[in-house]
Amino acid sequence: MKKLLLSGVKPTGTVHIGNYFGAMRQFADLQNEYNSFIFIADYHALTSVSDGALLHKLSLDVAMDYLAIGLDPRKATLFLQSDVPEVTELTWIFNTITTVPYLSRAHAFKDAEAKNKEVNVGLFDYPILMAADILAYGADVVPVGLDQKQHVEIARDTAQKFNRIFGETFNMPEPMTLEEVKTVPGTDGRKMSKSYGNTIALFAEDDEIKKAVMSIPTDSKGVSEPKDPDTCNVFALHKLVSAHDLPELRDRYLNGNIGYKESKDILLKNMIAFIAPLRERRKEIARNPEEVLKILKEGGVIAREIARKKMDEVRKKVGLGLI
Ligand code: ADP
Ligand code: TRP
Repeated sequence: MKKLLLSGVKPTGTVHIGNYFGAMRQFADLQNEYNSFIFIADYHALTSVSDGALLHKLSLDVAMDYLAIGLDPRKATLFLQSDVPEVTELTWIFNTITTVPYLSRAHAFKDAEAKNKEVNVGLFDYPILMAADILAYGADVVPVGLDQKQHVEIARDTAQKFNRIFGETFNMPEPMTLEEVKTVPGTDGRKMSKSYGNTIALFAEDDEIKKAVMSIPTDSKGVSEPKDPDTCNVFALHKLVSAHDLPELRDRYLNGNIGYKESKDILLKNMIAFIAPLRERRKEIARNPEEVLKILKEGGVIAREIARKKMDEVRKKVGLGLI
């Protein structure tokens, strides 16, 4: 029996290469090895998107992105989170065994509070909805970027607590992160993130890629000065798309044998070589949205059946429903 892999991406904006190298690439790489369930986290997106038509568009976009990076619906079940409303019921049940101080320690909430943002209850409860996603399907492994690891830990704690109170019901999920990638830096050196405006879109057009690459800040060292590849924002992105040139580039950096302009030109060429085929495939897929909707609908039926069975068990254990 193959182990069950589950993960999702929030439809809140344009997918970028940080999302891809940090998390999404694993979805495609692992679909043969695992029984994979990959969804579009539209319930989660509601904590920040309050425009119905926009959310529909963003959700369909993520579905197309999944197909464009090579997820194959014959191998992986692709679905929309909200096609399985059972996860919101499970969230409620988990809420009743989760304490406020415990959730107050979650990064996302602490960050939002530190920035004096108005925190809605949905954002506060975000990790519990994610725990419900993970546990409803009995996921064994959850591939995510480093910043989501804490949420998988919360899912584990929640499973343990439920099992202790109501008896063995949920298995323990393991987070899966790509050690060599950790956090993909953005064009300004901070973590690449939609909210910082420092991204390179995964399906960007050539001129957008050029603009992003040329905007990467560097220090003012001249061409013949030795440079530290490990602190250079341009080199950090070479690590993702310039595998073939990497040893030579490293040497040239250390020996003061390359200027930042040339390094950026090489990065631009390699970035385009990486993105262009994905982008063309994405355009092909976008020509047939009906087919994408059909894939999601079929995936949703399969996913819902699993969650429904689990919920029958949970409802009985906690004492909901009399017949
Ligand atoms: P963003 O920070 O741009 O809003 P999301 O929170 O939607 O991205 O993240 C979607 C997935 O991509 C998560 O698994 C997250 O860990 C991963 N991810 C996002 N940004 C990065 C990054 N810069 N490096 C590595 N992984 C990332
Ligand atoms: N919170 C995740 C993100 O921001 C998306 C997500 C929701 C998820 N539910 C999940 C990821 C369950 C893995 C498993 O990227």
